[in-house]
Amino acid sequence: VSQSRKTESEYAKALGAFYTDSQIADFLVWWAVRSRNDTVMDPSFGGGVFLRAAATRLSQLGGNPAGQLLGSEIDPVVHREIVSKLHDEFGVKKDNLVLGDFFRLEASRLGKVDAVVGNPPFIRFHLFTGEARQRALSCAAVQGVRLSSLSSSWAPFLVHSVGMTKPGGRLAMVVPMEIAHAGYALPVLDFLGRSFGKITLLTFRRKLFPHLSEDTLLLLAENKDASPAKFVKRDFNHLGQLAEIQRGDRLPLAGTRIDGEALQQGRERLIEYLVPKKARELYRKLKHTDHFKSLGELADVGIGYVTGANDFFHLTHDDVRTWKFPERYLRPAVRRGRALAGLRFLDSDWIQASRLGEAGYLLFIESAEALPETVRRYLKHGAALGVDKSYKCRTRSPWFRVPHVYEPDGFLSYMSGALPSLVSNDACAVAPNSLHILRLHPNSIMPCDAIAASWQTSVTRLSAEIEGHSMGGGMLKIEPSEAERVLLAAVLGSARRVAQLTWELDQLIRRGNWQEAQMRADNIILKDIIGLDGSDCSLLRCAARQLRERRSSRSLTA
Ligand SMILES: C[S@@+](CC[C@H](N)C(=O)[O-])C[C@H]1O[C@@H](n2cnc3c(N)ncnc32)[C@H](O)[C@@H]1O
Repeated sequence: VSQSRKTESEYAKALGAFYTDSQIADFLVWWAVRSRNDTVMDPSFGGGVFLRAAATRLSQLGGNPAGQLLGSEIDPVVHREIVSKLHDEFGVKKDNLVLGDFFRLEASRLGKVDAVVGNPPFIRFHLFTGEARQRALSCAAVQGVRLSSLSSSWAPFLVHSVGMTKPGGRLAMVVPMEIAHAGYALPVLDFLGRSFGKITLLTFRRKLFPHLSEDTLLLLAENKDASPAKFVKRDFNHLGQLAEIQRGDRLPLAGTRIDGEALQQGRERLIEYLVPKKARELYRKLKHTDHFKSLGELADVGIGYVTGANDFFHLTHDDVRTWKFPERYLRPAVRRGRALAGLRFLDSDWIQASRLGEAGYLLFIESAEALPETVRRYLKHGAALGVDKSYKCRTRSPWFRVPHVYEPDGFLSYMSGALPSLVSNDACAVAPNSLHILRLHPNSIMPCDAIAASWQTSVTRLSAEIEGHSMGGGMLKIEPSEAERVLLAAVLGSARRVAQLTWELDQLIRRGNWQEAQMRADNIILKDIIGLDGSDCSLLRCAARQLRERRSSRSLTA
């Protein structure tokens, strides 16, 4: 049984087959289908929840669902079952519900429609491969949209769907939150802006699919071909509020205007609009003053080295003793974000982390010449284990020289429940790609420990919530390019004060007093050094807390 369950869920994952709640489908269909004559398409109809809602809606409006519903679905079992149900229940023409890949469907096959509704499959790029991906990307290219090969399947689905919408028509879909923060989604946002008169993004305090790690929002696009689009967003507490709008108990879809151009160019993120207005305006104002810098203006953030076989290249004290490695082939390495205590990563932290298996040594061979016998023996042992044939190792020469090993100025953890840890590298350690590394620009105006102190203020906490992105389980993930956009107070010319503060914050954080560290950093850096007043600090602190709480309430079980 467990084997067949596993296979079922793997199959669902490969097809992105997670079906929509009827409350969501009813609402999207209610919004998109306005007249008895509307034709409606679901490009990947799965269990048919959208088509059933559309049939009901058309019947209520006095239309005839039999000939007005169109769709495609790639899963033959589901297709057969749903086509026969929709045929029996509503007389839907079987020919209009195509079995196959949506990207093989040309607009001429079913004709353009008044309304596209649905929930496109979400298949990440590493599973969305081969011919299927090529076809999808070519369909997007036909619409003039160049999608990167990192795109998940929903992106070309959305673009191809827009191409099937009639002038004046509407599109209403469930889309992953990635539309609001992923780099690969920018051309999609741009295309939506060029294709419709208005785009409304609906977000929810509670997750729409609580059992899935993927966070989603609802996209409503109207007035096809009346671009450029006005962008609007609206945040709801829960799904029940959609039904209130449908019943007319709540105001129709008025929302807050957002800067579509800034969103399409990646200059702003949707999440900024979830910050209360006063705090948002203050944050934007600060962003443009000399007192604040983005982390990328001070340092380069990148990923750590890639060994290709971590267990082989990372050694414990015991390994070093057993194999008798000479010291010159060893570099102290830190491997886990958990090991980054306080604001400084010290030798004592490295020793402690090594005991816990979170740090150790990297076997670092710069030149293959004149290797001592002990090292050669270890490499032979690796080759016997097949390490030299692993993907990364076989593509470099010699296979055992790990490239891009830098001793950075600091480290940054990339996944965290609260704020990612940023610490200075006082232990002169190196780190693999389980951590981000910071290298100060030659002309950086702040040393790394001052950056680590400034990282604790409410401005940075708010900024990290805005620039990073929420992962399943309520975690905050921050990619190097996102980290480089995080805002920091620039503390200049107060070296002694900052050194004292850094020491205090280091102690507080090591004891787990995060809140006190934040208050202390706000008081000294934001108030005393930069000159913000107390009420500004509270605004920023509250906004950061709100975003964090919203994110953590989106854990899978919430
Ligand atoms: C997220 S589910 C949504 C199904 C349905 N619209 C709903 O909301 O309940 C995505 C569906 O896309 C189908 N699918 C995946 N790739 C497809 C493709 N290339 N063409 C058509 N359907 C596809 C899957 O089999 C799955 O039924």
